[in-house]
Amino acid sequence: MSTGLEKLLAASSGLEALFQQDPLGLSEVRRVQEQLREQERVLQSVRPYLEQSHRAAQELQRQADLMAQASSSLSVPNDLLREIAKQQEMSQKLAEQVTGSDIYKQIQQQIAQIESVRIGVLGKNGLLSQRLKGLGALPPDIRKLEGERVNRAKVELTEALAETNNDLERHAVSARLLYERVDVTLPGRRAERGGLHPITRTLDRSVEIFARLGYELAEGPEIEDDWHNFEALNFPPDHPARTMHDTFWFPDGRLLRTHTSPVQIRAAKGRTPPIRLISIGKVYRSDSDQTHSPMFHQIEGLLVGEDVSFADLKGTLTEFVRAFFERDFEMRFRPSYFPFVEPGAEVDIRWDREDGTTSWLEVLGCGMVHPNVLRACDIDPERYTGFAFGMGAERFAMLRYGIDDLRQFFENDLRFLRQFA
Ligand code: DAH
Repeated sequence: MSTGLEKLLAASSGLEALFQQDPLGLSEVRRVQEQLREQERVLQSVRPYLEQSHRAAQELQRQADLMAQASSSLSVPNDLLREIAKQQEMSQKLAEQVTGSDIYKQIQQQIAQIESVRIGVLGKNGLLSQRLKGLGALPPDIRKLEGERVNRAKVELTEALAETNNDLERHAVSARLLYERVDVTLPGRRAERGGLHPITRTLDRSVEIFARLGYELAEGPEIEDDWHNFEALNFPPDHPARTMHDTFWFPDGRLLRTHTSPVQIRAAKGRTPPIRLISIGKVYRSDSDQTHSPMFHQIEGLLVGEDVSFADLKGTLTEFVRAFFERDFEMRFRPSYFPFVEPGAEVDIRWDREDGTTSWLEVLGCGMVHPNVLRACDIDPERYTGFAFGMGAERFAMLRYGIDDLRQFFENDLRFLRQFA
């Protein structure tokens, strides 16, 4: 590997004799030579290790692919997939550390050093050029001899430098190959195909159906204040109905909204009827079991106008349920109490399970908007009436997809989620 450098050393000794000085810095050239030998040694010793880690990475990739294939039908623990990904990343990092990236940088520096030597000696104002220019002043016989020596030195040096450069470039390439290698024989990585979460699909579907009925989409914050979440909805302070909502409170008196009903207030306040709006989103209650999750989703509706009646409410909800499930469901309107409606009702849907059992699943609350709520929205209750409803998106999704444990929606188990995408 060091033939170029050896020639450079020889040329350098020649120059030393010629000029009675050491224009290349012999010790400098020797230092570069030492460095190169050391680099070569490192590269050689690292190579087998790299091959190994490379093979390991390949094997990990193969395993990950197999897992990915299997996981759609079998149970492959997410932990295992994560572990494999972690190991892949580690072996990649290691490979980058041990490989020649530092060596490569060193070599680039050496190449630059050699270039500055070349300019210093061979350049337009370099040592040799000056010497050649000085030849004219010498007596003819000495001039001839000296001319030959200088020219020979010039040729030798040029050659030695070119060869050294070549060596270094080659060296740089093998260092680079070690850390930039790409294995074209590795199998391609499968792109994971995403899909919408069943709850998202349920919400989108509901909005679409209500949009066809002329409802517009309204939004409100998940961190609410007491007034919007309770008071404007006719829950006075200390009203017992407040305890029906297991509220998550913030120390400053704000709260995580317990239902989407506050959006009714935010969207309707100051508006002149007719109003027809729908709102969807997350709500929170300190509650958790097979049919309750501390975070769940609601679909809220409000319609205010002149001569709006309970019959309109029933018709709308029946129509929605039919459109949503694409079939008729037996529905039960059960009188119930919500402070913001009067009269109020809960609606149950008849759920015939595959095992032959039947139960009634409570899916929504509804009623005629209470005059106090209209007043809180600056709407005249003498002139306008309205209805409102709030549905549990999870319940609708459970019925539509035949799911019996609500918690599955939020466990992010791909085996569950893939069935809906
Ligand atoms: N906000 C109620 C709840 O979460 C549900 C509800 C009942 C909404 C009646 C309404 C309604 O708009 O009119 O329990």
